[in-house]
Amino acid sequence: MDDVTRLERLRAEAPERIAAASTIEELEAVEAETIGRRSPVAELRRSLGGRPPEERRELGRRLNDLVAELSEIIERRRDLLERRALEAALAADAVDVTLPGRIPRRGTSHLIQQVMDEVVDIFVALGYTVATGPEAETEFYNFTALNIPETHPARLTSDTFYLDYGDVPEEILLRTHTSPMQARYMEAHAPPVYIVVPGRVFRRDSDATHTPAFHQIEGLAVDEDITFADLKGTLAHFVREFLGPDTETKFIPHYFPFTEPSAEVHAYANGRWLELLGCGMVDPEVFRHVGYDPQRLTGFAFGVGIERLAMVRHGIDDIRALYDPDLRILEQYR
Ligand code: PHE
Repeated sequence: MDDVTRLERLRAEAPERIAAASTIEELEAVEAETIGRRSPVAELRRSLGGRPPEERRELGRRLNDLVAELSEIIERRRDLLERRALEAALAADAVDVTLPGRIPRRGTSHLIQQVMDEVVDIFVALGYTVATGPEAETEFYNFTALNIPETHPARLTSDTFYLDYGDVPEEILLRTHTSPMQARYMEAHAPPVYIVVPGRVFRRDSDATHTPAFHQIEGLAVDEDITFADLKGTLAHFVREFLGPDTETKFIPHYFPFTEPSAEVHAYANGRWLELLGCGMVDPEVFRHVGYDPQRLTGFAFGVGIERLAMVRHGIDDIRALYDPDLRILEQYR
């Protein structure tokens, strides 16, 4: 087969092979085989130098024409294949912006935390600041500094969780109320004092209205001329803020070793009177324990159970509902 025939055959066959290439890689293979550096075309071109001038010119022209012709067909095919690849990639990546979004399930604070935050907010609005203290407490702060006698039943191991800290100078226990922070705070700060202390407390108690761990908020106001009227006004305000502006309260005489006089605050809610909290005027003995001058200073303190507030507000009659892991219960109080 002479050279011209070989070129003519290539010209006849190549377009079909180019058209058959369905990917860029296939096209590049066809290109290499037809007009690439190792193709018959390149071989012929390399042989030109050894040919007579007339033949060289004629064959050279044919070679150039053919390469130009095939190159153009290859380029057109390359354009097409690249466009198709791009379109396929875009289609694969397509985002349907009209699809409805996935709405993540949002968490929320537990009801107990919500109530705690709300009570804190009511007092912060009155100018109180927030203090917190340790859950593992010494006997001194939990009992002695609060004027609770050595013989008081609350000190018994049947009522209080004592911790085994080994050979330490003082018994360590899980605090049974937030009141130890009264003493801790006054020891560390000069008067006046206006604080609330939210926190977890522990007692050996377990029934429909008691759990071994529960929450309280302590309040303490100490200044130069605080009276029982301030206590009543402040706590009545708190009850109205928490349970509604028309809520009635009554103060019933009570006893706590660290307040004198002491009272329980009851509120009328859901058709009956309910006990909400304990309170009283700070006992001068407590001031003496922390180095405050009982001649110059007076104050009031109160301690309110958070679970109790939540139960009163929502008419929950079993405290254990608050600690039930069944979300259907808690979701009602989002
Ligand atoms: N600490 C008391 C209790 O847990 C409540 C209380 C606090 C009473 C402050 C008076 C003053 O029952």
